[in-house]
Amino acid sequence: MPLRRFLALRLLIGVGLLSAVWGAADRCDAAQVAPVLAPTEMRPSKTEKVGEAASEQGATHKDIEAPKNAPLSDEEARIQLGRRLFYDADLSGDGSMACASCHEQRHAFSDGMATHAGITDEPGVRNVPSLGNVGAFKTLTWLDQHITTLEQQVGTPVFGHVPVEMGMPDGATLLRRVSADACYRKLFAQAFKNENGRIDAQTVPKALAAFERTLTSANSLWDQARREKAHLPDAAQQGEALFFGRGHCASCHSGFLLSDQSFHSINAARPMRIRTPSLRNVGVTAPYLHDGSAPTLRDALVAHTQSPALSAKEEKALEAFLHTLTDTDFLHNPALSLPPEQCPV
Ligand code: HEC
Ligand code: HEC
Repeated sequence: MPLRRFLALRLLIGVGLLSAVWGAADRCDAAQVAPVLAPTEMRPSKTEKVGEAASEQGATHKDIEAPKNAPLSDEEARIQLGRRLFYDADLSGDGSMACASCHEQRHAFSDGMATHAGITDEPGVRNVPSLGNVGAFKTLTWLDQHITTLEQQVGTPVFGHVPVEMGMPDGATLLRRVSADACYRKLFAQAFKNENGRIDAQTVPKALAAFERTLTSANSLWDQARREKAHLPDAAQQGEALFFGRGHCASCHSGFLLSDQSFHSINAARPMRIRTPSLRNVGVTAPYLHDGSAPTLRDALVAHTQSPALSAKEEKALEAFLHTLTDTDFLHNPALSLPPEQCPV
């Protein structure tokens, strides 16, 4: 087969596979693709200052090399790769939006808005959920019962049309962009040795998912109190007792996640069944509910019309308890933040 035909075929097969794996919605014409912008503010460059230290000791800056990083394990390379992808706006059609644009660390990887418009300014439909401990969820998103793996979920924000979020026209464009970056090529080579470092519809989602599985949050004040390393304030203790007692909150908000991972309607006026959200870090993820319609914790509580009636004092106690679920280590963990520009391999 002539080489050109072979390559054209490879490309077609590639695109077909992508649609299958990523469930890409309708693909747009290549002509509609906005030009790729320069890397955005998502990844600011870091100027190295090794030269300054060098001159103090009389050496010239040319003698000094940036230290080589200790070699990464394959799994660590996968995580670092996923982290870079997570913060990379090149994963969006016009280079303006990264996963981290909506999933911000300081909000436990949610965003502080009721909904978040995508690159075309089409309004968002659902509230951006926190990604804290997202690896522990058996189904993903507020409503969908069919998205069961993080790998599978990646296609929705990247290629989704209802609503458009990152607006990537098709898988081939995404792979072309990622492959054009020398650091990505090195990271894929290290992270996916069995796949010969291939940058494809399997490895890109696998890397993102590997990073997402490191988003664990288990060191809130409440966790520390349970390990007898801290003491909960009185109001929070009363709230905790209500939560697990008369308030019946833990009949749905149960276990480590404070979610039974089942689907419930909390309000007779809204019969739609929603996956019980985790309440970890709920103090920094306002506004609340699947549509972002509850601006405050109190509004979220009041929306549970089937829960036992609570006095104002009891509501306050519950709120005090919910605030002890904030894990400040998680919100500031440097391993989860915007990665340095310098390639880790
Ligand atoms: C425009 C904002 C936006 C961007 C960009 C975005 N997301 Fe999301 N994300 C959302 C919204 C909104 C939901 C909830 C969707 C729903 O329930 O229908 C969500 C849900 C999720 C979930 C499910 C969480 C759960 O608790 O079930 C994961 C995982 C996720 N996003 C990961 C990502 C990754 C990875 C990227 C980048 C490839 C990304 N998101 C980009 C808005 C965004
Ligand atoms: C029948 C199961 C159930 C019970 C009982 C229950 N919840 Fe919920 N809770 C849910 C579901 C489902 C949602 C999401 C509803 C939505 O998004 O429309 C939710 C949402 C919340 C939210 C908003 C979280 C967010 O991220 O948006 C808070 C806070 C909350 N519940 C606290 C409580 C407290 C406190 C109690 C006890 C007084 C309680 N819940 C009782 C199922 C329950």
